Amino acid sequence: MTVRAHAKVNVQLAVGAPRADGYHDLANVFLAVGLRDAVTARPAERLRITCAGPGSEHVPLDGTNLVARAAALLAARHGREPAVHLHIDKDIPVAGGMAGGSADGAAALLACDLLWGTATPRAELLELCAELGSDVPFSLVGGAALGRGRGERLTGLPVTGTFHWVFALADGGLSTPVVYRECDRLRDAAGESVPEVPEPDPAVLAALAAGDARALAGALANDLQPAALALRPALADTLAVGEKAGALAGIVSGSGPTCAFLVEDAGTAGRVAAALEASGTCRAARATTAPAPGAHRVPPDPDA
Ligand code: C5P
Repeated sequence: MTVRAHAKVNVQLAVGAPRADGYHDLANVFLAVGLRDAVTARPAERLRITCAGPGSEHVPLDGTNLVARAAALLAARHGREPAVHLHIDKDIPVAGGMAGGSADGAAALLACDLLWGTATPRAELLELCAELGSDVPFSLVGGAALGRGRGERLTGLPVTGTFHWVFALADGGLSTPVVYRECDRLRDAAGESVPEVPEPDPAVLAALAAGDARALAGALANDLQPAALALRPALADTLAVGEKAGALAGIVSGSGPTCAFLVEDAGTAGRVAAALEASGTCRAARATTAPAPGAHRVPPDPDA
């Protein structure tokens, strides 16, 4: 049983003050993009995880992996053993700020549910996703959505047309908790007043609904970007190269270090990707489109 799930970019990531539980309330506008992982679930004597693809050497293969936690959570819900082999085919950058781990968690949950025939209702699957992590519910639903709370309370958003993106993949990852802490530290140091509960920007929602890439480029916003740049100053060079090469706008994706560039069309995407790769300011560049679907079953790969 193979399930695919896509990466995301945050076209708005507004971060509130730290909460008592350590999380931050967000106005998080997610957009699913073409990069995707696949998780294959097969019956096994006990829970086993394998992983292949770029960066897979950095993926933990123990019980801390979100796919293992997903299988264990679903099995416990249905009073069964998580006796399954989960194989992850990675394409989404590891620790890249594109919700790769969350995509794998959502894919594993759905793959196990289908393999076991447990037919968990959608609302329950979404609850289990939220237990796994703040971004996991969005990986299940895909498209575009506004995430409130810590990002797990979703409202679907209308999107028209196709948005073209280029992603500059970095060497090495950034830890999401470290980036959030740096964001708090920078804001404290600057004496910034931070809302408890941030609000979505109507300009972002209108641009998505209208399929207007120029308007969306003008409204892209990521409160974690200053923190990611402070931790990884070289990302400023990557952003400058992409914008100079013709992107409408560049932004750090989520907690980074992947940089996301919104471009006018597929032709520009190719040119921006080539310029980024030639610049030596990133490991690789990938052109893709949005929106992309939520986690979904795919026919078995005969070579797997
Ligand atoms: O929910 P998830 O496990 O993916 O979050 C990873 C880390 O990111 C959290 O432990 C927390 O440090 C940070 N985070 C946060 N506020 C959010 C989401 C995540 O501070 N809304």
